[in-house]
Amino acid sequence: MVQNHPILVTGGAGFIGSNFILQWLTREADSVVNLDKLTYAGNLSNLEKVSSDPRYSFIHGDICDRKLVSALLQRHRPRAIVHFAAESHVDRSIHGPDDFVRTNVNGTFALLEEARAYVAEMAPSEKTTFRFLHVSTDEVYGSLGPQAPSFSEISPHAPNSPYAASKAASDHLVRAYHHTYGLPTVTTNCSNNYGPYQFPEKLIPLTILHALQGKPIPVYGDGQNVRDWLYVEDHCDAIRTVLAQGKVGETYNIGGRNEKPNLEIVQTISAILDELRPKDPVVPHSKLITFVQDRPGHDRRYAMDARKIEGELGWRPRETFETGIRKTVEWYLAHQAWIQEVTSGTYRQWMAKQYSM
Ligand code: NAD
Ligand code: TYD
Repeated sequence: MVQNHPILVTGGAGFIGSNFILQWLTREADSVVNLDKLTYAGNLSNLEKVSSDPRYSFIHGDICDRKLVSALLQRHRPRAIVHFAAESHVDRSIHGPDDFVRTNVNGTFALLEEARAYVAEMAPSEKTTFRFLHVSTDEVYGSLGPQAPSFSEISPHAPNSPYAASKAASDHLVRAYHHTYGLPTVTTNCSNNYGPYQFPEKLIPLTILHALQGKPIPVYGDGQNVRDWLYVEDHCDAIRTVLAQGKVGETYNIGGRNEKPNLEIVQTISAILDELRPKDPVVPHSKLITFVQDRPGHDRRYAMDARKIEGELGWRPRETFETGIRKTVEWYLAHQAWIQEVTSGTYRQWMAKQYSM
């Protein structure tokens, strides 16, 4: 394996992590070590395209395992840690918050402690280039009123779900490790992502799957909750930008300026499928839209002010929602085998628990 200046990616078998690794290996020279526990959300087939690339290696393990993390840092001597690993689904955090605290809080703490020990022994020149990049979410900021300005980097943390609280706690730990120990950290807080390889428990892939199968498309509450959608490759681009140019100790908000109510999202997907799949069991697909009981504590609106990363680092999203959502629907249509694989087994139990389906 080429061992020039590897980066250590955690959670690289999940949705965003796998898109990040695929993008990284086409755009960057350095190798990638992927540490992933392979929970229900982690899937190595996401990374099939790079599995024989000599610059890619996979380690099956838990970020909470400090001995393992320490050994990996010593063995691979990465120039950066890009930390995606997390429990990421709000509804699951409502049913069972334990895993969220364990991985998102204790796991981030374990990584920070081992990174601190690793950096302490570095030569000064290595210290100045090392980065701990923490990947976080807009949900740490809580919920916005309809007319309120978007979240900026100085918006106070006000998390409302166990997921958001666990991510907020991890953001605070990362901040403290920079301020107290001088660990060279950068944090990114991004809005809702969509695109290839997203596990079909989240709104967009769930809608596509149910529409194809003629099953009800569950919309929580009145369908007017607003999210700010960003195509996953634009998020990955932003992370590479922050890793290369971000200022140590800073946080960067990332968003798509694509605020849309959930009902509009599911209607848009239904309309694309009407065009691409006119012979599906139920057409128009929008007939499947079903209002169901609201999520407890459901945040009404998220929106990100991305002026800092745009102005200081020159990042801009490339996809509009219209181009990104069409690509995404087409990707799911072309990857039926992947869908079969990820929706077997425990996925069915989750659907039964959450939607009584
Ligand atoms: P995901 O749930 O699809 O993937 C998470 C990955 O982490 C999986 O591969 C899983 O196996 C791995 N993992 C979980 N616990 C682990 C542990 N203890 N040790 C090692 N690996 C572990 O999540 P995602 O949607 O790809 O999100 C990735 C990151 O981006 C998360 O930190 C999330 O908070 C953040 N984020 C997500 C979104 C979004 O819209 N999905 C938006 C902003 C930020
Ligand atoms: P989700 O994809 O779970 O992301 P998040 O909760 O992190 O924003 O949900 C996006 C929005 O869609 C959110 O407002 C909840 C809503 N939603 C539904 O209406 N129905 C569903 O079945 C799911 C999973 C989500």
